[in-house]
Amino acid sequence: MRTAPLDTISNDTGSSDRPAFKPLLLVEDLRCGFHTGQGLIHAVDGVSFSLERGRALGLVGESGSGKTVLARSIMGLLPRSGVTKSGQVNLDGQDISQLSPRQLRHLWGAQLAMIFQDPMTALNPVVRIGRQITEHMRAHLGIGRAEARSAAVALLESVGIPEPDRRLSSYPHQLSGGTRQRVMIAIALACGPKLLLADEPTTGLDVTVQAQVLDLLAAQQARRSMGLILVTHDLAVVAGRAEETAVMYAGKIVEKGPTSVLFHHPLMPYTEALLRAIPRLDLPSHTRLGAIPGRPPDLSALPPGCRFAPRCPYAQDRCRTQEPPLEEAGAGHFFACWYPRKGSLPASWSYTDSVTDLPRAPTSVTSSQAAIPEGQIQ
Ligand SMILES: Nc1ncnc2c1ncn2[C@@H]1O[C@H](COP(=O)(O)OP(=O)(O)OP(=O)(O)O)[C@@H](O)[C@H]1O
Ligand code: SF4
Ligand SMILES: [Mg+2]
Repeated sequence: MRTAPLDTISNDTGSSDRPAFKPLLLVEDLRCGFHTGQGLIHAVDGVSFSLERGRALGLVGESGSGKTVLARSIMGLLPRSGVTKSGQVNLDGQDISQLSPRQLRHLWGAQLAMIFQDPMTALNPVVRIGRQITEHMRAHLGIGRAEARSAAVALLESVGIPEPDRRLSSYPHQLSGGTRQRVMIAIALACGPKLLLADEPTTGLDVTVQAQVLDLLAAQQARRSMGLILVTHDLAVVAGRAEETAVMYAGKIVEKGPTSVLFHHPLMPYTEALLRAIPRLDLPSHTRLGAIPGRPPDLSALPPGCRFAPRCPYAQDRCRTQEPPLEEAGAGHFFACWYPRKGSLPASWSYTDSVTDLPRAPTSVTSSQAAIPEGQIQ
């Protein structure tokens, strides 16, 4: 095994015009901290990974693990004050981590786009969706009104919205949750980004619509040979839809590798615990789910050693004093644990190609996208 200061999550896609060593996205030692009443907290603490064009990476972890802050750090969309950020974000050969807000605005939409989790950034409720899409296209692509309108119709059609011409004059509240989500995806795709960050893109949708929206994202990603980072707290969502998965805990990536390998042979006990927490319809009713005991640590008072130690059933003395580094187990599979799990999970817990048979707890939050929020730029 060897320590991995920087690694590639994905292998080369075989894309003829791109050398293997030049990924679409290269994130190096990215850190983001917030000055809070409890002191400086590191929401993202030294994250490194890379992603090839046309590949999907699932970013998974419990609430508060740093997924959204990581995605926003990549976008350059952080609060203006009270934030410290360091590390590199390289998109298609360009270091975008040092760009000014003005320079970043030229990239948003055209180079990289994000479907936001935060409902505050949802579609504008008082503007017809046609205008919301076409304004975005006209601003970034410099095309005229008529051209933008026909492009918007084609775009809505491509994301499976019936009667797209008529839909352009609808207001967001006239659309179902699933259709609104498709509109949001359409806007994110409108200017042909090379990289799409989808932060909990199916929150608040019922399980059938959720599967449709995830399928749509996967299809668009393949069609456009786009890089996709699929952010979710639910490991089941990435099954069959992301070639690679990275698991975050308390601001760090603690395990990453090919999704099927992670599902079959998780090495980090936290990944195993997440897998055991996935509800499965194919298990006998009343089967107990493996709820993860305890809560994620307070980022202002992290435990010494392994951050998962207070909740880990396998923790030993060393875990409580020394932090495990990210090591490679082979074949692009990395983990941070002194005592990695051995063997496979029972078949019933392992990888599935479909999420449609996995029940979801209903949630009240509506995912969103749309305009870049003002005052959220660093
Ligand atoms: N603006 C901010 N100021 C201070 N702390 C923040 C800020 N934004 C996020 N944090 C903290 O950073 C940590 C990571 O938050 P983040 O939103 O990235 O978690 P997450 O993994 O996306 O969780 P969820 O699944 O609930 O969306 C949390 O402890 C959160 O409280
Ligand atoms: S290092 Fe120790 S505490 Fe941390 S996950 Fe591994 S066994 Fe558990
Ligand atoms: Mg989040």
